[in-house]
Amino acid sequence: MSDSTLTLEKIVSFTKSRGFVYPSSEIYGGFAAVYDYGHYGKLLKDNIQRQWEKSMIQTRDDVYALDSGIFMHPMTWKASGHVDGFNDVLVEDKITHKRYRADHLVEEFYDKKGTKVDMDKKTPEELAKIIADEKILSPDGNELTAPRSFNLMVKTNLGTTDSTLTAENTVYPRAETCQGIYLDYKLVLDSLRPKIPFGIAQVGKAFRNEIVARQFIFRTREFEQMEMQYFVHPSEMDEKYEYWHQYRWEWYKDLGIDESKLNWHKHSKLVFYASAAYDIEYNYSCLGGFKEVEGVHARGNYDLTQHQKFSGTDLTYFDQVRNEKYLPHIMETSVGLNRLVLMFLDNAYTEEEVNGETRIVLKLDKRLSPVKVAILPLSKKEPLSKMAHEIAGTLKEHWMCEYDETQSIGKRYRRQDEIGTPYCVTVDFETVNDNAVTVRDRDTMKQERVLIHDLEDYLKAKLEG
Ligand code: GAP
Repeated sequence: MSDSTLTLEKIVSFTKSRGFVYPSSEIYGGFAAVYDYGHYGKLLKDNIQRQWEKSMIQTRDDVYALDSGIFMHPMTWKASGHVDGFNDVLVEDKITHKRYRADHLVEEFYDKKGTKVDMDKKTPEELAKIIADEKILSPDGNELTAPRSFNLMVKTNLGTTDSTLTAENTVYPRAETCQGIYLDYKLVLDSLRPKIPFGIAQVGKAFRNEIVARQFIFRTREFEQMEMQYFVHPSEMDEKYEYWHQYRWEWYKDLGIDESKLNWHKHSKLVFYASAAYDIEYNYSCLGGFKEVEGVHARGNYDLTQHQKFSGTDLTYFDQVRNEKYLPHIMETSVGLNRLVLMFLDNAYTEEEVNGETRIVLKLDKRLSPVKVAILPLSKKEPLSKMAHEIAGTLKEHWMCEYDETQSIGKRYRRQDEIGTPYCVTVDFETVNDNAVTVRDRDTMKQERVLIHDLEDYLKAKLEG
């Protein structure tokens, strides 16, 4: 009997060999904390994004879409507080000179001891004291340097000047997508004329010089965020905060994450911009416990106040209903798309014993499956091949499909199970006579005979019904 525990090694190897996630720059020996998404990984990521956009924008009347630039005026990050305050605490192994996040080493130390501690935002001094008191060493067993703050902003320069980074020419690829929303909030007000409360949502890349990344796609230096900023009257904050809490929680449940695998974590210490913060945590089997997936933050009017001050532009809102002018308060939901890819894979990965063999199956919600239908002719020759290609041609108009005619039908079913394809359509020798195909269900492995004429409607009901 095989060990069905989902370890990090297993998911890294599985996703690489099945074309979901590749290490970056492998032919050059790899590039730490950056990953590439293969065919199935890209399709899965797109489907998750699609479900988020559907829930956050499409099905609502009060949230608008935005796609702002990765680069913004450098003053953005001074105003937001990131240049001065967006730090992690770093320690270095005195022998190997490898660097680690001090809070991660402390957390791992306590996890091994079985002690639960509150690891919310600790100062270098607090971490230094714990490391000294507990005599915590590096993973290689060596002494550590004193903890010090390390800024997470990635720096580069733009323009045709000398490429040396100076205080004048430094620009920052965004560390969070929401700053683009604050900078464009006035333009949205002027062009779309929304009434408070309303939200602006966007999906895009963010960049952070993370100190160390040993958690696969959970923590990377380049990642995608899906963020929504909801602008409210200060008096509405508590009510809206509660509402969005619940709304985001339901999104996870709707896409097949059992409530027992989810947790709300309330931050006792807050990052510099937040006045209240909760994380939605998911219990990752491959990471050995609950980890943050999404943040729901009350940011007050901190960001608009700062941008108003630094830009000199009036960012107040005139509320016609209340006959009042004010800086709106902001409720934020912020989730990492790559972390969600890992969460849905972790949740879906299943090993089952079938006829004495191990079947690996990704039990993804059908809306998220990279491929919806596989078309599998039992012969590469005519007339089956022609009929199967015709069926595939029709179905591809509606869904991502895969045509596979190589190896035994059993192996082909297994391949589709492993990438989470909900339905396999087998074109067999009977098809020529009865104009019907066999449709196999991924989860139950039950097969049904369906007329080719009815196939599109049948699959529509199954996939979209
Ligand atoms: N705008 C608020 C913000 O950026 P955050 O808690 O720093 O807050 C929000 O990040 C979400 O972005 C996290 O919950 C996580 O899902 C994702 N995220 C943050 N850093 C990440 C990283 N290095 N790699 C992957 N995802 C990350």
